[in-house]
Amino acid sequence: MYEFYPYFTNDGSVGLYSPADDDIYHSTYGALSEAYEKFVLPANFDEYFKTHNEIKILDICYGIGYNSKSFLNYFLQNFEKKIKALNISIDEIDTDNKFSKIFIKAIDIDKNLIYLSPFIKMDKKIFFNNKINFSHEKISRLLKKDTKRKYKFEKYINIILLKKIIKSFPEIFDDIEFNNLLKSKKYKPYFDKNICRIYEFYKNSGYYKTLKSRFRAYLHNIYYRYISRSYKKALKALKLHDFNFELEINDARKAIKEDYNTYNYIFLDAFTPAKCPCLWTVDFFKLLHKHLEEDGLLLTYSNSASVRNAMIQAGFWTGKIYSKELDKFIGTIGTKKLELIKHGLSEYDLGLINTKAGIVYRDKNLSLDNESIIKVHEKEVSESNLLSSSKFIKLFRKQTK
Ligand SMILES: C[S@@+](CC[C@H](N)C(=O)[O-])C[C@H]1O[C@@H](n2cnc3c(N)ncnc32)[C@H](O)[C@@H]1O
Repeated sequence: MYEFYPYFTNDGSVGLYSPADDDIYHSTYGALSEAYEKFVLPANFDEYFKTHNEIKILDICYGIGYNSKSFLNYFLQNFEKKIKALNISIDEIDTDNKFSKIFIKAIDIDKNLIYLSPFIKMDKKIFFNNKINFSHEKISRLLKKDTKRKYKFEKYINIILLKKIIKSFPEIFDDIEFNNLLKSKKYKPYFDKNICRIYEFYKNSGYYKTLKSRFRAYLHNIYYRYISRSYKKALKALKLHDFNFELEINDARKAIKEDYNTYNYIFLDAFTPAKCPCLWTVDFFKLLHKHLEEDGLLLTYSNSASVRNAMIQAGFWTGKIYSKELDKFIGTIGTKKLELIKHGLSEYDLGLINTKAGIVYRDKNLSLDNESIIKVHEKEVSESNLLSSSKFIKLFRKQTK
């Protein structure tokens, strides 16, 4: 039976644990906050939308959707501000003359995570992690806490997502494994009960047979205060945009090989290179390079020398992501235009790339499994004459004293 391992992170959003890797999918600091600080804020969308009215985002390793959701949340909240600043009501705008075009393509190999993504609780006020049946040292520090919420999440985003998922995967209603997960008592605290009710409504009345007016009446009668208002708000906001969200359950390598789009932003949120090297190889980065627009940005949380080297070898200008909020470097950015790099790699970072730690993972035909990629990599490292990273670090410290 499929099992998943949810817990509450410090901002009240749900994170997941992977027993196979004894690792967490999301930072205990806050799953939503992490998505904001590692992807959405460094992407600098305010600047982007000054010169573009169209955006295409590739969300690799969608999981339970924090990166796409955070983008939508940020976009819709800021778009509203823009409308208010223009001093016009949303109703006054000619909706045929759409403000912008949004396209998100999101990929994950795990069907259940994609299906569960709209149900996940995003803003638990007070949480207890004492009932979880797994242990991880970082999670155990978060047994009972008042949340520290940094970013307000608009619940209507989950309603929009649920509808997209039902449309893309109508088989969801008959998927026994997924429906058992959703009904399981064990996981109930981690799901938003109102979204579960909307799902049940569609399941019982048939999504395509349900008239929009009936759905609205349903929301109006039962959850008027909570959902109906925010749902209407979302519909109004989205009417102003040409919004297309494509989700694919697949190995990201295969999905992207078969995709012909180019993207303004690529979010790469795979497990670490040691665990999932197939999404960090020089060959995968070459594929991503082909899918990036000329002024596009690839963003990832990884600071690994091997990843940076793979990006450079694949043809990217490569730099670091600096977080103002955390006052530190939190990842790596790749572009096709040097002037888009705000924080270049330092002498130290470049030195590290030229050690054994910088040796790249390879997967020429984008088809090897992770174990095989690791084996080839280990062999290349053991046969290499390059300095080890520890020797380099010692030398570097000596020279710069
Ligand atoms: C660190 S988690 C990503 C978390 C995610 N961004 C979220 O908001 O929940 C890594 C994800 O990679 C997915 N994954 C692992 N191997 C993959 C592959 N070859 N192709 C696509 N997705 C993969 C896993 O299912 C998992 O959801």
